[in-house]
Amino acid sequence: MTAHPLLVAPSILAADFGHLEADIRKVIAAGADWLHLDIMDGQFVDNISFGPAIVKLVRSLTTLPLDTHLIIQRPDHYVPRFAEAGANSITVHVEAEAKHEVAGTLRLIREQGCRAGLTLNPATPFELVEPHLPEIDLLLIMTVHPGFGGQSFRPETMAKVQRACELRESLGANYEIEVDGGINPETAAIARANGANVLVAGTSIFHAPDYATAIRELKTSAV
Ligand code: DX5
Ligand code: ZN
Repeated sequence: MTAHPLLVAPSILAADFGHLEADIRKVIAAGADWLHLDIMDGQFVDNISFGPAIVKLVRSLTTLPLDTHLIIQRPDHYVPRFAEAGANSITVHVEAEAKHEVAGTLRLIREQGCRAGLTLNPATPFELVEPHLPEIDLLLIMTVHPGFGGQSFRPETMAKVQRACELRESLGANYEIEVDGGINPETAAIARANGANVLVAGTSIFHAPDYATAIRELKTSAV
């Protein structure tokens, strides 16, 4: 099995939207590995964020991988638009409330030339993602219920990270294991110790006085 390097993906949901271009250039210069883009539709979750136009803007600013998290209903309908906008990976929710045929959507994402990601909320049983594990490049374990930044990390979700590692080994699969929500240097160390290798962080980076220090602290606390 391929080793999975430790990666930090700043979530631009916490960026300064009044100076978005400058803030994104700052976090890229500070050592971001990927950029995490939260797409919310006000239906799947009780919040609305941004769409393909912002993804296209971010695409124009960087060659870094754009990790697009579709927190929406009917993601299958929108996958081509986000692929066209420049997304590198597209992650969709497994819950029935997302109203799509999961296996078909994962195939569609790969057909669009993107890496296929699957995610589950803290309250969702891990069994729901198990049938799809051989078909994905990225498994996102939500460590908060999606919809807002600045929430507290839920340690009980680490059992799912452990299970994801076990199954990756036994299936001979190769997906990356990502965590998202309440990630700071302390919780990054916990997530890493349980087997996660991609750390999404909004508040702990964009609300920090120095982005490079914040990213370094996430990485060094997690080794
Ligand atoms: C929440 C989003 C997260 C969020 C993370 O629904 O999926 O990506 O922006 O923000 P923090 O790091 O502040 O919890
Ligand atoms: Zn997210």
